Amino acid sequence: MGRKKIALIGGGQIGGVLAQVAMQRELGDVVLYDVVEGLPQGKCLDIWEAMPVVGSDARGNGTNDYRGIAGADVVMITAGIPRKPGMSRDDLLKTNLGIMKTVAENVRQHAPKAFTIVVSNPLDIMVYAFQRMSGLPTHMVCGMAGVLDSARFRAFAAEAVGVSVEDVTAMVLGGHGDTMVPLTRFCTINGVPIEHFLAPETIKTIVERTQQAGGEVVALLKTGSAFVSPALSALEMAEAYLHDKKRVMTCAAYCDGEYGVKGYYIGVPAVLGENGVERIIELPLDADEKSLFQHSVDHVKKMIDEISW
Ligand code: APR
Repeated sequence: MGRKKIALIGGGQIGGVLAQVAMQRELGDVVLYDVVEGLPQGKCLDIWEAMPVVGSDARGNGTNDYRGIAGADVVMITAGIPRKPGMSRDDLLKTNLGIMKTVAENVRQHAPKAFTIVVSNPLDIMVYAFQRMSGLPTHMVCGMAGVLDSARFRAFAAEAVGVSVEDVTAMVLGGHGDTMVPLTRFCTINGVPIEHFLAPETIKTIVERTQQAGGEVVALLKTGSAFVSPALSALEMAEAYLHDKKRVMTCAAYCDGEYGVKGYYIGVPAVLGENGVERIIELPLDADEKSLFQHSVDHVKKMIDEISW
């Protein structure tokens, strides 16, 4: 049988954590691809040499040759340049679009059956671009955003209420940017609505902090963007696929009419299992939520429509 094969495109900050944790959890053997010579090889050697300490037999190989990703079960893409302070995710668009074209062509050629999770920003555009440029089935391509945005919301909410993060569920829909829509109505503490525990002003603060959480980290780090939380979030999605868990997770999924969106990727709750994005769950949004969601969708659409494909 052998272990599953996980190909990581981009061996930077997020790629490194992805490789480490995927190997540590024995989710599969890892191939780490990067354009920088020696970087993925060095990282993988270091991680592999740590595996006896944690008792994992997973292998890791770094490469600068796309042939190394051949036959991968899962591909996770973090290739690109990260945000610098003051830079919006949208500023990254041009550079990362060019990189994504090469990545898409190579994944199509070497790992066309993989479940692909795009992490590179601006996320909603990069995942759309990857699917369009690779031509891979829409349900086998998705973007990581909602799991991370929801995790941030959960962390803040758990702290404010004084309960375990494990008991907080949250849902953040829409694009992965300032227009994201944290749905407080669907945020619960083990099933009990969050409004039962927190005053409206406190909830509002949590919502705003969630929307700006990426920027908060960038402002502190100064030389890059968040990397542990995005990596662990993407791995949750990979695991849902590899273990056919049918997890309900918010991810950037291809909408074919759901939520009134046709032909674009946007953050929606979906079921992830052995068939990739198996279905999208349509929530009955109220008027306010609908309008916020639509605003977010319009922002993503506008950016995509402005690109000369
Ligand atoms: N092919 C493959 N890898 C590439 C390419 C390319 N054409 N161009 C650049 N890279 C690599 C870089 O060499 C670098 O190692 O992508 C890696 C990106 O890593 P970091 O700069 O450390 O960025 P990281 O923090 O990992 O974030 C990656 O995810 O969340 C997003 O905004 C973030 O778009 C960024 C991406």
